[in-house]
Amino acid sequence: MTALSSSVASERALFAIPDDVTYLNCASMSPQLRSVTAAGLVAVRSKASPWNLRASDWFVHAEPLRARFARVVGGDAECVAIVPSASYGLAVAAANVPVRAGQTLLVIDREFPSNVYTWHELARRTGARVRTVQRESGESWADAIVAALQDGDVALVALPVCHWTDGTLMGLERVGVAARAAGAALIVDASQAAGAHPIDVGVVQPDFLVSVGYKWLMGPYSLGYLYVAPKWHERGVPIEQTWMSRAGAEDFARLVDYSGEMRAGARRFDMGEFSQFTLLPMACAGVDQVLEWGVDRIARDVGAITAGIARDAAALGCTVADEKDRVRHMLGVQLRGGLPADLADRLTAARVFVSIRGDSIRVAPHLYNDERDVERFISVLGEAMRG
Ligand SMILES: Cc1ncc(COP(=O)(O)O)c(C=O)c1O
Repeated sequence: MTALSSSVASERALFAIPDDVTYLNCASMSPQLRSVTAAGLVAVRSKASPWNLRASDWFVHAEPLRARFARVVGGDAECVAIVPSASYGLAVAAANVPVRAGQTLLVIDREFPSNVYTWHELARRTGARVRTVQRESGESWADAIVAALQDGDVALVALPVCHWTDGTLMGLERVGVAARAAGAALIVDASQAAGAHPIDVGVVQPDFLVSVGYKWLMGPYSLGYLYVAPKWHERGVPIEQTWMSRAGAEDFARLVDYSGEMRAGARRFDMGEFSQFTLLPMACAGVDQVLEWGVDRIARDVGAITAGIARDAAALGCTVADEKDRVRHMLGVQLRGGLPADLADRLTAARVFVSIRGDSIRVAPHLYNDERDVERFISVLGEAMRG
């Protein structure tokens, strides 16, 4: 069994995870940090006394959150909009990237549905077509995507950082170069990577990059982030016409002096009611903890856990993508003959929480996991395989 360093096991106390629970499913939803729960409780109580709110409170609290997310992805806070979901951020991209009839919109095989339906709807509206990039066995995602970018008139390529079922990497740096050479916009869904895998928007240069907040960014559900490259700010159209995105909205007495001027930077793309009085402080507390740990440390220490799982699963005869082809924080475990029919029941009975995604068991640990969690998962897997 794999030995993990003691630092890997030290963060469980920051969460309220019972001893008998083996939670290896951060890719579905992170458990809530105690600090996030505490911030949420204070925020919920504050609505009891709305007379304490100042006009500026509707706007200013989003600013530190923009700055925090910008630090996670190496960007500028001016480029960050507050959105409720990945699908919302993708809809903003779809409303802004110019697409002509006959052009191609690239997506990848078995992509998460929010990053597929968006482009089918855009194709329906514009007369473009969606092409799904498949990869041959042994081929990297980057090779397959770059080849597709060089084949035909591609308006945009919409990709994750890594595949949501097994963590295999898209090679965004290389894909970004090829997309720019092809004149295609690059739209990135970083929901399964931001907060656990190093991302640098300065290097990848996406046009739009979205992430949910409730997975690797340790935040509450329904508050996410949209990075928008500066070139889309001035001419960009939001998908809602909220009063809050207009310049001067802080002056409540003059709200009916309707304004055609938008707030600066990516703020024009903010969702309506972005002040989110309860969720914003929780999201800030979550990202604060991520920044305190550091994304590099998370990738390294969670990587030690997934490396152990990969070794032990391979010893049982399972297949796992090579470490160089996947992110370090999650992996897909596959069995040659398919997954045992009673695997899900056995895992539930043992209080081991992972996700079954297609033919992969997706295992997504974090710093609250330890050696014991790895042993419990591997032991249930081994028993299920022996039948
Ligand atoms: C890759 C990816 N993107 C997005 C989401 C969530 O999408 P949405 O915010 O549209 O519900 C998930 C949820 O599991 C996901 O895995």
